[in-house]
Amino acid sequence: MSEVILVLDFGGQYKELIARTVRSLSVYSEIKPGNISVEEIKRLHPAGIILTGGPDSVYLPDSPKCAPELFSLGIPILGICYGMQLMCHILGGRVETNSAGEYGRVSVTPLDSRKPFPALMSHRDSVTEPPEGFTVTMRTETAVAALENSGKKLYGVQFHPESAHTENGREIISRFLYEICGVEGNYKVDDYIENQITQIRAKVGENNVLLALSGGVDSSVCAALLSKAVPNRLVCIFVDHGFMRLDEGDEIERIFGERKLRFIRVNAQKRFLRKLKGVTDPETKRKLVGYEFIRVFEEEAAKLGDIPFLAQGTIYPDIVESGVNQGGEGNNAVIKSHHNVGGLPENLAFKEVIEPLSGLFKDEVRVIGKKLGLPAALISRQPFPGPGLAIRVMGAVTEAKLDVLRRADAILREELDRQKRRPEQYFAVLTDTRTVGVKGDDRTYEPVVAVRAVTTSDFMTCEYTPLPHKILQRISYRITSEIPAVSRVVYDITGKPPATVEWE
Ligand code: XMP
Repeated sequence: MSEVILVLDFGGQYKELIARTVRSLSVYSEIKPGNISVEEIKRLHPAGIILTGGPDSVYLPDSPKCAPELFSLGIPILGICYGMQLMCHILGGRVETNSAGEYGRVSVTPLDSRKPFPALMSHRDSVTEPPEGFTVTMRTETAVAALENSGKKLYGVQFHPESAHTENGREIISRFLYEICGVEGNYKVDDYIENQITQIRAKVGENNVLLALSGGVDSSVCAALLSKAVPNRLVCIFVDHGFMRLDEGDEIERIFGERKLRFIRVNAQKRFLRKLKGVTDPETKRKLVGYEFIRVFEEEAAKLGDIPFLAQGTIYPDIVESGVNQGGEGNNAVIKSHHNVGGLPENLAFKEVIEPLSGLFKDEVRVIGKKLGLPAALISRQPFPGPGLAIRVMGAVTEAKLDVLRRADAILREELDRQKRRPEQYFAVLTDTRTVGVKGDDRTYEPVVAVRAVTTSDFMTCEYTPLPHKILQRISYRITSEIPAVSRVVYDITGKPPATVEWE
C-alpha cells in the first residue's frame, strides 16, 4: 500500500467515518491513536494526517495530545474540531470556552468571495487567537470556522467535513487529499483482494485452513476469499446450534456447498437445547451457548487432525475498537473488547491465525463479498447475535417456542424486506407473557409476539423505527392468522438507551 493517510484519534465519534470517507476517495487510510510516536509516523510515511475531533478541552492537562513535533515534519495536516484546536494550542494560539458553543448545522462564511454554506458543528471551545503564521479563512457568527498556514500545509476546520450535514464536506476532504497532500488516489478494493490472495497463498503453502463459519457477513466473505485463494484447502465448520432463523442453516449449506471448500455442518441442535433446558437467565443463556459452541468446534476440529491455520473474519473496526495493534503509547481507551467470530478462545492450538479482512470496513467487506459472488441477501444480512433465537425467546427455550418465533420472524421479514426504505434491523421476539385472546369461538391463552424495528447508524445506540400503521397492521394480521399459537402482537417503541436492541 504506497499512499496512506493517517487519521489520529482523539476520542471523536467520527473517526471511522473520516477514515472511510478517505478510502471512498480512493486513498488508503488507517486510524491510529492521537499520541502515536513520531518514529512510528516516520516509519508509516503518510501522505497526510487528519486529526479527529474529541470531547475534551485542549487546555486541560489530561486531555489527549499529540507529539508537538508532528507539526514540523513537513507532512500536510488537517485538524478537525478538537484536532484544529489542538494544533492551535500546541503552536501557541489561544483556545477558550465559548459561552454558547455551536451545535448542529451552522452557517459558515468563507472570508474570500465564496458563498456561505451550512456545516455540522459540535463544540463549546473555540480558537480565539490563531497561532503565528496562520490565517483565518472562514468564520461563523461567533467563532473561527477554518484557518490555515498554507506555507506549512497545516489546515484546521472547526466543523465536521466528514458529516453528510456539511455541504460539500466530502469535497473539502478531497481537496485536502488531492491538492494539499498530492495523492494519486490509487486505492481500490480490488487490489486488496489480489493482495490478500497472494499473501494467503504465500503463508498457507500446501497446508489446510480452518474457519468457523457462522453465516454472518464477515465469516462468509472470509470463506469466499479463502476458497478463492487456496481452493479445496479451506475447511469450514458451521455449527448449527438450532437457533438460526427459518431455513437459514440450509441456506448457508447451499451457498457454501457450491464453493471450492470442504463444508462441515455440525447438527448440534439437540445438544444445545439440552444444555439450555429450563434456563431462563439471559446472561446464563448467552454464556452456555458460547461455551457449548467452543466445545463443539474443538471436537470437530480434533476429528480433522492437524490443521495449522485458523482463519477469522475479524474486520478493521473490531481491531480499532479493541485498541489492539495501534502503535500508541497508552492513553487510547479500550472501548469494547474484541469478539472473534464464534467467540473462539485464544488458546486453540493453531500455528497461526489468518485474518484477511482485518484492514477493511464493513462496507468494503460487503463490496468484496459481492465481487466474490456471494448472494445479495447474505451480503446485506442484518446483525444477528451469536446465541441467535435463544435470546429472542424470552425465558426457557423449547423447540415449540423456537418454531413459533421462526415463523413470526419470517413473516415480519417478508413484509419489511419488500419495503423500499427498510429499518437497519428488524426481528420478532417471543415474550414469556401469555394473554387471553379469542380465535373463532374459542378462548386462547397464548404468548405475545413482539415486533422490533430500529433505526441506527452504528448499532450502539438506536431509535425505534416509526413503521407505518398499515405495515404493522398487516404484520400483526399475518402473524395471528398464520400461526395458531399467537393471538396478540405488540410493537416495541423504545430506543437504546434505555432499552438495548435485543431483549435479552
Ligand atoms: P444490544 O442488544 O447490545 O445489540 O443493544 C446491539 C447490536 O449487537 C447485536 N448483538 C450481537 N451481535 N453477538 C453478536 O455478534 C452477540 O452476542 C450480540 N448481541 C447483540 C444486536 O443484534 C444489535 O445489532
